Amino acid sequence: MNSERLSALRQSFARLFGQTPRLFRAPGRVNLIGEHTDYNDGFVMPVAISRSTVIAASPRDDRQLHMSSLDFREASGGNVRVSSLDDPRPARAWTDYITGVAAMLERRGLRLRGANLLVASDIPAGAGLSSSAALEMASGWALLHTAGQEMDRTELALAGQEAEHAFVGTLCGIMDQYISANGRAGQATCLDCRSLSAEQLQLPEGFDIVICNTGVKHELASSEYNVRRRECQQGVELLRRFLPRIQNLRDVSLPDFERYRDALPEVIQRRCRHVITENQRVLRTREALREGHWNKLSELLAASHQSLRMDYEVSCAELDLMVDLAQRAPGFLAGRMTGGGFGGCTVNLVERQRSEAFVKAVLTGYNRRTGGNCGIQAEAYVVASASGVCALPDPSPQPELVEQIPGEHCQ
Ligand code: GLA
Repeated sequence: MNSERLSALRQSFARLFGQTPRLFRAPGRVNLIGEHTDYNDGFVMPVAISRSTVIAASPRDDRQLHMSSLDFREASGGNVRVSSLDDPRPARAWTDYITGVAAMLERRGLRLRGANLLVASDIPAGAGLSSSAALEMASGWALLHTAGQEMDRTELALAGQEAEHAFVGTLCGIMDQYISANGRAGQATCLDCRSLSAEQLQLPEGFDIVICNTGVKHELASSEYNVRRRECQQGVELLRRFLPRIQNLRDVSLPDFERYRDALPEVIQRRCRHVITENQRVLRTREALREGHWNKLSELLAASHQSLRMDYEVSCAELDLMVDLAQRAPGFLAGRMTGGGFGGCTVNLVERQRSEAFVKAVLTGYNRRTGGNCGIQAEAYVVASASGVCALPDPSPQPELVEQIPGEHCQ
C-alpha cells in the first residue's frame, strides 16, 4: 500500500477516533500450486504478496471493539460498528472477521483490551486473493499488540482459521492464514498442512508474479467449498473400508486409489483423484524449484488447472479463458487459476522484461472475447512477494527511535 494511502488512513483515524494510531499490515496471497489440498492434510505452495490490508489501531479503556473501514461505508448503524469482547457474536458483516479472531484469541486464554480499529486494503475482495485472511491476521496482530500480548504466528493463523469456521461459516483450511502470518519476501512456502512444517523455496529470478483477475466474484465459493470438503470426507470414509489406516486423502497413494476407486461414486472418484494427484504435483514443483528447473513448472501448473477444471470442478469459463490467453501471451512461463475458484484470479510467472506486453495481450484478448461489456471488469496486478503480518514503524522524524518488535520481519 503506498504512503499516500497510509497517511490518509492515519488522518481518517485521527478524525474518527481523535487518537494517533499504530498501523499493522498483513498480506494477501497467491497459491502457486496445491489447491483444495490444505483441508485434506496435504501440501500447498502459497506466496504472500505486496497487496495487503492495513489496520490503524489504538487501545480503549473498555472491552469494546469499534470498527470502521475506509473501503466501504456502513449501510446502517453509522460509520462505526461495535462489538463486545465480553459477548462476541457474528453480525453477518465484514466485522465478523475481526470479532471472530478476537473471540478465538480470548478462547486461548489471552486477555485483550478494547480497541478502535480502522481498516484499509488494496486486496480486491472476493477475488480469491485472501482478503479475509489478511483482515484476520492484521486485526489479530493489532489486538495482540494493543493488549501488550504476544503469540506465535502460526498459532495466530490457527485462531484466524477457527474464526472463519465459527463466525463466517467457511470451513477453510489453514493455507491463507498461515501464509499471511508467515510469508517471506522472495520465497514461496511449501507447507505440509498436517504437521505445519514448512520449507522456503526461492522464486525464479527474473520473473514477475502477474495476477489476472477475471472480475468474476467467487460468490458460490463458500457454499460449494463446503460441499467439496464434504465430498472429500465421503471419499475417505468409503476408501477406509479397504484402507483402514487412512485418516485423510493425504494418506492415499495413487496406486491404492486406482485399485479401489470403482467402489466410489463417479463424482467422489474425481474429487479424490484431484486431491491425490495435486499433492504429488506440489511435491514435484518443490523439486523443480529446489533444482531451478523452471520449465517443469509450466507443465505442473497447467496440469493442476486441468485437474481443478475437470475433476474438482471449481474453475469457470472466464478462468479457463484467462489461462488459455496467458499460455499464448509474451513472456509466459507458468500459470493456472489460484485460490478457491468459481471466479477470481489466475497466477502467472512471466519474464520480467515482457510482463507489460503479457498484461496487454491477456487483457485485450479477454475483453475481446467477453465483449468487455457484461459488467465484467478484468484487471491485472504485477505483484512482489512479501513478508507476513507486522507492525509498521510510526512516521517518526528520527527513525532510530522506532521501537523494534521482536520476531518482526516486515519489508
Ligand atoms: C480458500 C481457502 C483455503 C484453500 C483454498 C483452496 O482460499 O481459504 O484454505 O482451501 O481455498 O486451495
